[in-house]
Amino acid sequence: MKFRPIVLSLIILSISCSERSEVDRRVDALLSQMTLDEKIGQMNQLDYGSVNSEIIAAGKAGSVLNCVDAARINELQRAAVEESRLGIPLLMARDVIHGFHTVFPIPLGQAATFDAALVEEGARIAAKEATSHGVRWTFSPMVDIARDARWGRIAESFGEDSYLASVLGAAMVRGYQGNELSSPTSMAACAKHFAGYGASEGGRDYNTANIPERVLRNSYLPPFQACADEGAATFMTSFNDVNGVPSTANRWLLDEVLRGEWGWDGMIVTDWNSAGELIAHGVAADLKDAAELSVNAGVDMDMMSYSFIGNVSALVKEGKLQEKQIDDAVRRILKLKFELGLFEQPYIDESNAGASDYCEEHLAAAKKAALESAVLLKNEGVLPLKEGSTVLVCGPMADASHDQLGTWAPDGQESHSITALMGLSKLFNVIYEPVLEYSRDYDMGNFAALKAKALRSDAIIMLAGEEAILSGEAHSLADVKLQGAQREFIDALSKLGKPLVTVVMAGRPLEIEQELEDSDAMIYSFHPGTMGGEALAELISGRAVPSGKLPVSFVHSSGQYPFYYNHSNTGRPNQGNETLIGDLPLKAGQVSNGCTSYYLDAGYGELLPFGYGLSYTSFKYSNITLSSNELHSDDVLKVEFELTNSGDYDADEVAMLFIQDLVGSIVRPVKELKRFERVSLKAGESKHICFELPIKELAFYGLDNIFKVEAGNFKLWVAGNSADGEAIPFKVI
Ligand code: BGC
Repeated sequence: MKFRPIVLSLIILSISCSERSEVDRRVDALLSQMTLDEKIGQMNQLDYGSVNSEIIAAGKAGSVLNCVDAARINELQRAAVEESRLGIPLLMARDVIHGFHTVFPIPLGQAATFDAALVEEGARIAAKEATSHGVRWTFSPMVDIARDARWGRIAESFGEDSYLASVLGAAMVRGYQGNELSSPTSMAACAKHFAGYGASEGGRDYNTANIPERVLRNSYLPPFQACADEGAATFMTSFNDVNGVPSTANRWLLDEVLRGEWGWDGMIVTDWNSAGELIAHGVAADLKDAAELSVNAGVDMDMMSYSFIGNVSALVKEGKLQEKQIDDAVRRILKLKFELGLFEQPYIDESNAGASDYCEEHLAAAKKAALESAVLLKNEGVLPLKEGSTVLVCGPMADASHDQLGTWAPDGQESHSITALMGLSKLFNVIYEPVLEYSRDYDMGNFAALKAKALRSDAIIMLAGEEAILSGEAHSLADVKLQGAQREFIDALSKLGKPLVTVVMAGRPLEIEQELEDSDAMIYSFHPGTMGGEALAELISGRAVPSGKLPVSFVHSSGQYPFYYNHSNTGRPNQGNETLIGDLPLKAGQVSNGCTSYYLDAGYGELLPFGYGLSYTSFKYSNITLSSNELHSDDVLKVEFELTNSGDYDADEVAMLFIQDLVGSIVRPVKELKRFERVSLKAGESKHICFELPIKELAFYGLDNIFKVEAGNFKLWVAGNSADGEAIPFKVI
């Protein structure tokens, strides 16, 4: 009996080895028949708008992006399989970022769920829908760490924390790829944008990222490594340069770190024309130079720069690239095509295309994600509102069927969106007067009409926020505030003598201090996707209880960016007693002694901390015990505690474990998330929770640049957010 599992795993191992070698054998057999031009064709990815059957039949593209029409996909595939010399199928790609037709909350919203199983399910559903239309490769997950909300692409990210992004990134990879890549409902995942894109200077998209190697390794790379470890089939290079070297030409990143150190053997694609952009960056003189740099760095496939297709052949002839490099790249591309089962089943069943789009199960999961991603930021005894009461619904996002889908939702159809107005109308007696029609609207002309209607209502629900186009790629803001006249509008609403509930639907954490003060309650729902309105109505009525937690810190002022809770210790840590600008005496003399690191006009800390989120009930953390206070680096620390729902509503709480390494060879973060768990508790119920933390997960790249655990004193906190909890000491010996 005892050796059974070993026998079983040996059998599994030998099966997977023989499968692997079977794929390798087929790849080699095919490769040996290919001309250099055919190989280069496989390394070329073209946009749907730039291809036709002739180009495909001539073997000039290995992959096509952005076609989602099953019939057209079959047509192109037919040209590849039946008309090209070797019949190599195409790999059809698309940005399926947070759902396909059924749109889930934007990734930043999904991060607020702190629910890896739900994120995985969302990705599985996206894969089921997208593959039925013929898409077998998605450019997701995006695991860039985003610490600056001016950067519009923060919407596509999982926020500021490396651990959260690692767990959720890996969950998405599992969801897209399923159990077997060869299943017709599996899509190859693509971890992007490798690397450092979230650190674009000043939050300006595409910009330079200056990240010291240790910071890159300790903070920016871990989510990518988690995706690599999870078996993400592909990686995408980023647009930015890291410390002077654009990622697409960054041999150290692609070849040494990703393939060498991490032992990852998947396929690397450039971002759109990022090989061509090496010219604008000023590291390549022309497209030929760009192709040479990219292939030498380790890139396998060129997205839309035409630099490979036009130049690799000459570069091989001139000896600037070796044919072996081309073979290695093509081997990785063909291997993925074999693994996806494209050679066996290149075509899709057109009659089945979209069969599960918007089905009940998918909509239910999207609604669950919208429910769990909404974060209750304030509640002065107003929420939940009594079902059936009369509510005045207003604001630019109230009936925003397009904008609630958020950025990168190219296949979401607004006709399927349940808007807040639609959802609320089912549960309340709604009076609707938007006043502002869209988020940048300055025209408050209808406010007088609203005022009259407010008299007849029990509460006002203001749906504020950002249009989808104000976040996402190439949509950075210098000032992350509510646009148009929304601030004035909320201020005016707060003076009407009715309870004011503000809901913010946005692609980023906005500067909302004033609006928070003016509102009696506030829910931050990010862009919640197809089912957003139904979820919001249930939260507002108390049919559901808010449980989302902030995956990013909220600041007082945009000027505080970059901002993140897990920052380094300074030599003058905040004491909470800073002199603010209004308190400075006139003709004051210069003083610095005793001062700390802060802004005169914005203070030191955040408006709302990472992990923050209220509920209609309350939770108590008690009896926190550690398995030991002294541990070796190969031990596992068990942190056990009771979590009690001490209020009146059944609800979920996300419990978090943070640590601090008190003395290191380099400056260490003031806190770091190491574990989290979403726990469902009935009113009055207690559950015993245990976080297991292998001490080896306290390792980091220290002064010697070696990844290891440094012995010494630590603190840990178990709490509902990054600012709560009592510190408990422990020691690594
Ligand atoms: C974006 C990528 C995206 C690609 C393909 C680029 O502009 O940066 O995230 O996957 O386009 O659409």
